Amino acid sequence: MAITLPENSPLLSKDFLYGVATASFQIEGANTEDGRLPSIWDTFCSTPGKVFNGDDGSVACDHYHRWKEDVQLIKSLGVDAYRLSIAWPRVMDEQGNPNSKGIQFYKDLLKELKAGGLTVFVTLYHWDLPQHLEDKGGWLNRETAYRFTEYTELVTRELGQWADCWATFNEPFCAALLGYEYGIHAPGLAKPEYGRQAAHHILLAHGLAMPIIRHNCPHAQAGIVLNMNRSYAASAKSEDQFAALIRETLDNQFFIEPILKGQYPRVLAKVLPEYLPTILPGDMEIISTPIDFLGLNFYTCNHNQFDTEALFKDVPNDQEVEYTDIGWEIAPHAFSELLTNLNEQYDLPPIYITENGIACADTLKNGRVDDDQRVRYLQGHLNAVHEAVAAGVDIRGYFAWSLMDNFEWAEGYSKRFGLTYVDYDTQVRTIKRSGYAFRELISNR
Ligand code: NOJ
Repeated sequence: MAITLPENSPLLSKDFLYGVATASFQIEGANTEDGRLPSIWDTFCSTPGKVFNGDDGSVACDHYHRWKEDVQLIKSLGVDAYRLSIAWPRVMDEQGNPNSKGIQFYKDLLKELKAGGLTVFVTLYHWDLPQHLEDKGGWLNRETAYRFTEYTELVTRELGQWADCWATFNEPFCAALLGYEYGIHAPGLAKPEYGRQAAHHILLAHGLAMPIIRHNCPHAQAGIVLNMNRSYAASAKSEDQFAALIRETLDNQFFIEPILKGQYPRVLAKVLPEYLPTILPGDMEIISTPIDFLGLNFYTCNHNQFDTEALFKDVPNDQEVEYTDIGWEIAPHAFSELLTNLNEQYDLPPIYITENGIACADTLKNGRVDDDQRVRYLQGHLNAVHEAVAAGVDIRGYFAWSLMDNFEWAEGYSKRFGLTYVDYDTQVRTIKRSGYAFRELISNR
């Protein structure tokens, strides 16, 4: 089973970047080693009932100890690029001083990646906020944005020479809304007025960090990574159309519009003024500091019915569709639509697909993992990227989520997203059929 693209596809040019992605908390383990401080995810994991099976990040993929082997794994997949994140609690102590051991870990890792000829994408914040900052209010406290600039200053100064691309944040929607409004991610707070305020402070932190990255890493690209689903109306009824519009506004436009246009969606002031955060003079200018690239993470779509209280409500697709092991609809057509719609709505910077992937109920049999569903998913979504590029969207690369199975947040280790299978008892990694198919596509260019 091979992944193929139309013969003259721009995705087959050597300039189009293929990579795999991970994040610190999801793979590193060693969460008390070498002075690493607790993060909000350590606290969340130790709170009964929050994470499936009581799983935690104490070992994860043991990447902190196996990073050399993992760099070999990345290279053996034949990819051009690797996207990783830095754990803030590993590199800085409570007083804001550098933790040299934590920094050394990333120096060694990044050097090895560069020595292997890889393009390196680094995310500064992939959800593992130091717990001591959460104790002072976390992202509800505007001060955290300024702590983030100190962290950015340290990391870009120490590690700048080995990174090609910096993303300030991964998925502010999830960090803010899932963490502070729905309570299903760390820190597990659940108040309607919290989510958007946390989001505003994260966006502010992003904007404040941009000039620091540019100053310390003048040759690198700097940007941010947003997650986006495509929102459909459950029916042709005008109230469902309205529901889908609100859903898309709250989930997608709320994050991209301040960055690219320096404003929150205008419609909010009219229909949902309570969703607007407290904004201080000058904030929107900071947030809309120009970026070199926009990272987009895409997984699925949703269908929305009007609801008198919440305005929209998720309903299943009324068509026969395929779902993944985590229950997400497989909808590659939604991916190309989303990309072309964004291109019409905004003057977009170059786009990287910084994550795309699928959870499958993979099993290892006779040393093999035949994850045909994942191969089909990648095929469908790479076709969608091809279509978007053909329609004029400037997309420069595609990262599969993920290099290997890892800690899937509230789902613990129960959901497997990797191109590589991880046996958590032995830590043996086995490249899945999808990993080989991805490698073949890349090497056939
Ligand atoms: C997006 C997140 O960035 C990543 O951490 C997560 O594992 C994947 N989506 C899959 O849910």
